[in-house]
Amino acid sequence: MCGIIGYCGQKPAVPIVLEALKRLEYRGYDSAGIASLYDGRLLIRKDAGKIDEVIQKHDLASLPGIVAIGHTRWATHGAVTQFNAHPHSDCGGRVAVVHNGIIENNQQLRQELTKIGHKFTSETDTEIIPHLLEDELKNGCSLEQAVLNIAPRLEGSYAFLGISLDDPGKIIGTRKTIPLIVGTDAPDYYVSSDALAFSQYTNRVMSLEDNEVVVLTQKGIEFFDAQGNKLVKRARKLDHSWAESHKGGYQHFMLKEIMEQAQALSQIVHQDEKRFTNIALDILRARQVIITACGTSRYAALVGRYLFSRVGKKFCDVVMASEFGYFADSVDKSTVVIAVSQSGETADVVEGVKAARDAGAQVISIVNRPNSILADLSHQVIYLNCGSEIAVAATKSFLSQLAIFYLLSFAMVNSFDEAAARLTDLSGDITKVLNWNKSELIKLSQKLKDKSAFYYIARGINFAIASEGALKLKEISYIHAEGMPAGELKHGTLALIELGTPVVVICPADYTFLETLSNAMETKSRGAYIIGVSDKESDIYDSWIRIPEVDELLYPMVAVVPLQLLAYYLAINRGCDPDKPRNLAKSVTVK
Ligand code: M6R
Repeated sequence: MCGIIGYCGQKPAVPIVLEALKRLEYRGYDSAGIASLYDGRLLIRKDAGKIDEVIQKHDLASLPGIVAIGHTRWATHGAVTQFNAHPHSDCGGRVAVVHNGIIENNQQLRQELTKIGHKFTSETDTEIIPHLLEDELKNGCSLEQAVLNIAPRLEGSYAFLGISLDDPGKIIGTRKTIPLIVGTDAPDYYVSSDALAFSQYTNRVMSLEDNEVVVLTQKGIEFFDAQGNKLVKRARKLDHSWAESHKGGYQHFMLKEIMEQAQALSQIVHQDEKRFTNIALDILRARQVIITACGTSRYAALVGRYLFSRVGKKFCDVVMASEFGYFADSVDKSTVVIAVSQSGETADVVEGVKAARDAGAQVISIVNRPNSILADLSHQVIYLNCGSEIAVAATKSFLSQLAIFYLLSFAMVNSFDEAAARLTDLSGDITKVLNWNKSELIKLSQKLKDKSAFYYIARGINFAIASEGALKLKEISYIHAEGMPAGELKHGTLALIELGTPVVVICPADYTFLETLSNAMETKSRGAYIIGVSDKESDIYDSWIRIPEVDELLYPMVAVVPLQLLAYYLAINRGCDPDKPRNLAKSVTVK
């Protein structure tokens, strides 16, 4: 949530910052702004709206400067207005700050600052930072010393960047819990929430640890620990395949990412088999196993739970990460906690993992983003290796998470190779399912675009796919949707079915087929329009989305793909932007 960027170097700074903001837009897109230092002046322009709109409206590209910072916002404190957009400034307009995260004690600090005469112009928590810096700078501190002095007063999680007329020619940055990455290509230096922001210029990056401070000037970069001691950091190489962010000819990132799934599957099997098997054995040996995740990643975890039980005969529980803390009393040294997160940044997951570590649990994380906070906190990390996922709606990362759970469950019974071979074959089935259904899904989405609610049902291992299909639809097309185990319908939701209500029935020809079909019939008898997702045709379906016949534990992977595409086309037909759904952001770094 929120993307921040700073550039200091030999080139005009503003075009670099604007380009970076476009690359960071997946992190938030309700407001944007930049600040630059030029000719003894601090220039700030910002507004509510998507980045391109703000750039045009305020002619941001015309702003001069060789030092600049920028921000793309996902509102937490304060409405989506120009006043609340970042950068924020101090009383005298001499300091500018961009911030990602939440300052939890901002009300108390705001009161203290107001009492001593500071004037606030926004409702944000962020604005206290430039005011705190203002006082330190007035006392003659350097910008980095000012940051070191105020950081202990800030509670919560944050990454922020600042520039000031009182210590010009530099950008300072610091972080706590929220990521901050520095890119170096002397004499050009970058700092951002995500290396994607500057990966077209350099692949040499360095990460900040909690409470460290970085100073960027045209002469170089310096790092300090919380006590102000200088640190030496080595740059590591950024994997360029990760940093790709173009649409590759597709209209949207989401469509590109859906189409990349066959390839993602063939890549995912390239894991270190021995390490993988050891992790699987740790899971088997643990007294209890808890998987924690949010949103789509949690649905992958639910499929994982079935796989662990069916293949490895290992029962485990899945706990929503935002609720994890309430179960922390049951976590101990003999617990394995598996944290699943595409971004590796989700605050609820990070928080849960910290609690689990404190209780002595072994933490294994399944993440996509390299060098993420979650990866750093975990004892063992399994990477999805599916490349950057930009669209807010998770697609290829979900399929990759399912594949990881599939591999892990087979590794529990010493059959990693067999699972890897099956997944490699499955990538052809993913291509098939896309080719078979594309035109039918386009037609279906045109027909159903004005429906107000969809229901998704399935049983067993496919139940989580029903929930995932519903989540995809609601988040990008704003149609109400619910996914549930088919057997649960008659316990309440059936009351909502009326003439023409679309019911998506995931019923592969496996052990769940007949019972699921009979639940579908119950909705059809009440007027539902049945969309059958199956390898077996049936008279019950009003529309048939054909999937290939595969091993029964692989059906979730082939069934989810047409549901992603259905959601995508429905969003397009309803005039929604599937890459940037309203009110959402890709990385949810607030609790
Ligand atoms: O990065 P994470 O996997 O931790 O993200 C978790 C959820 O925020 C995420 O899956 C969200 O539900 C997606 N937008 C769903 O498409």
